[in-house]
Amino acid sequence: MKIYFAPLEGVTTHIFRNAFAEIYGHVDKYFAPFISPAEKCPLTPRERKDIAPENNTGINLVPQILTCRSEHFIDAAKALAGFGYREINLNLGCPSGTVCAKGKGAGFLQDKDSLQRFLSDIYSYAEKDGMKISVKTRLGYHDPEEFSSLMEIFNLFPISELIVHPRIRTDFYKGDVRKEYFAYALEHSKCPLVYNGNIFSVKDYADLTGVFARGGDPIMIGRGLVSDPQLAGRLKSAGAAAGAGRHDDAAETDYAKFRRFHDTLYHEYRKVLSPDINVLHKMRELWTYWQVLFDGKEREIKRLMKAKKYEDYEAIVYPLLQAEERST
Ligand SMILES: Cc1cc2nc3c(=O)[nH]c(=O)nc-3n(C[C@H](O)[C@H](O)[C@H](O)COP(=O)(O)O)c2cc1C
Repeated sequence: MKIYFAPLEGVTTHIFRNAFAEIYGHVDKYFAPFISPAEKCPLTPRERKDIAPENNTGINLVPQILTCRSEHFIDAAKALAGFGYREINLNLGCPSGTVCAKGKGAGFLQDKDSLQRFLSDIYSYAEKDGMKISVKTRLGYHDPEEFSSLMEIFNLFPISELIVHPRIRTDFYKGDVRKEYFAYALEHSKCPLVYNGNIFSVKDYADLTGVFARGGDPIMIGRGLVSDPQLAGRLKSAGAAAGAGRHDDAAETDYAKFRRFHDTLYHEYRKVLSPDINVLHKMRELWTYWQVLFDGKEREIKRLMKAKKYEDYEAIVYPLLQAEERST
């Protein structure tokens, strides 16, 4: 079974990816958060730093591009090829208002003729340069029924992998995923498919594969892997157990390992961000995911979210982590 780490802008930075790969692993491919190329500026210095191979050693990384202009995509793809990348992902899923208003991300799904012309341009470039292009998409903008005409367009191109997040733009990341449309993709797609959306546990994955007669490998996971960094390992051992005809019991959280992960992120962000509050904002965003690992500790989590100085943060976090380590 192959597991891909979904791109989460602001969360799955190179600092996060390195810490994750070193401490947890079990991820076959990491997708970098989007690069948004502009006229004569294929990559900003910050984007360059995030995808630079020296900052991603030992990580199988696929950079992602968000644009609706094929010349911008191709300029950025050439810059990425210069870094040695042989696969690039196109973002057709971002639901943000400002992104969609510019006709990018999920906004691009509204204009199918332009999308087809864009794909034709970028796949002509890809063929000449020997570049693989994968696509990450939603089902449509307003209506999931748009998916069948999008699928007809996708089927015209040699998409290396089609990653489907079965929601429409107006769903954002909320509510149930529309799994039946992924089943439709399994029937109709000519390119290899990857499922993405709402896998937070081994049970979620088992329920999913129950819906699809085939498919469900590879899968891409975002929030579930940030919330429970052991999830990829759990899924892989559950798969092995199922293969051997045994039942999987999800392992407990390894809080010593989690502490190592937390400390690596905290120390690495302290090296590159200042003052305290900027580092603590980063940690706060991570704690919005991690809080599920700390049942009954809502008061402590609430307090650490409010910390404005390192001393205050550490005075709450370390007793919390030590208590969990002792109790397991
Ligand atoms: C905070 C945040 C940032 C995201 N950034 C990106 C991004 O840069 N590129 C992208 O393709 N998707 C992005 N996504 C979408 C995720 O990659 C993924 O498709 C979505 O979270 C659904 O998968 P999940 O349920 O496994 O999290 C983002 C989602 C969130 C919540």
